[in-house]
Amino acid sequence: MEKKNNGFIDEDEEELEREVSNDGFNKKFNTRLDDLEKKKIDSIRIKKIDQTKKRATVDSVFDERMYLNINKLLKTGHLNRIEGIISAGKEANVYLAYGENNREVAIKIYKIDSNTSRWMRNYIIGDPRFKKIPHNVSKIIFLWASKEFKNLKRAYKAGLSVPEPIYIKNNVLIMEYIGFGSIPAPKLKDIKFPKEPIKLLNEILGFIKTLYQNAKLVHGDLSEFNILYHNQKPIVIDISQAVTTHHPKAEVYLVRDIKNVFNYFDKIGVEIPNPEDFYYEVINLEK
Ligand SMILES: Nc1ncnc2c1ncn2[C@@H]1O[C@H](COP(=O)(O)OP(=O)(O)OP(=O)(O)O)[C@@H](O)[C@H]1O
Ligand SMILES: [Mg+2]
Repeated sequence: MEKKNNGFIDEDEEELEREVSNDGFNKKFNTRLDDLEKKKIDSIRIKKIDQTKKRATVDSVFDERMYLNINKLLKTGHLNRIEGIISAGKEANVYLAYGENNREVAIKIYKIDSNTSRWMRNYIIGDPRFKKIPHNVSKIIFLWASKEFKNLKRAYKAGLSVPEPIYIKNNVLIMEYIGFGSIPAPKLKDIKFPKEPIKLLNEILGFIKTLYQNAKLVHGDLSEFNILYHNQKPIVIDISQAVTTHHPKAEVYLVRDIKNVFNYFDKIGVEIPNPEDFYYEVINLEK
């Protein structure tokens, strides 16, 4: 069935929205914007792990539009309070926050930006799940955020190791937080010596295979930059650009994902299997 506002076709859509609205995040909180500003992100520990130049300072990342969005979520009870910023990127910012029952959550807020929407638009073309592609910048970004939510949901339902998707509204996505207290899990790229590298490699290869065969998706940007290392386990994030296995470029993306993963393990000195053999195993074809 077709969603009027964003052109996304998915039979899971209604079920998904029901789940979202019944997800237990309905309690009201009275936190006001002032409080948010005061509490805004003391979080030295979060800042500490996040010091590259491109990362904005804590104060400058909350632009007015984001304030409005966050404030709405605080008012409606989807969020209790915002603790700090985990990452400020070109397309999105990610925050550590607390939801109902003080559950730690990660909020990913996509920036409404016309340059971003331009490449997103190109990326969406060719995905059979999108019939009409909106022209409006905000709507494309909303569509993109909902795509990440749906992909997360699909992967999570297939039992894969991704953050649990919790809530989506416009450009704001709430998901399970991966980390210990105010220290978010590191990216795999920052781990030079994982404890059991062969086991880790096999877990990631298992992820690629199940994502393809059961969830019918290809991640499309899988690398050590989008895999978190938590409790010695890999957790895959940043799945917005994932495409269905029917997408014309699915195989190209799959090959790229496999190459990236193999390169990382090769770099850290793990003996890697033949990537081509693994590719055929994933798509379930004789060589
Ligand atoms: N659920 C989560 N729990 C903890 N940290 C997270 C979570 N999701 C994302 N992050 C952190 O935020 C960073 C950015 O998230 P993500 O990769 O999804 O966005 P992005 O738009 O690709 O940003 P970037 O360009 O910085 O990679 C991640 O590299 C990770 O450090
Ligand atoms: Mg990323």
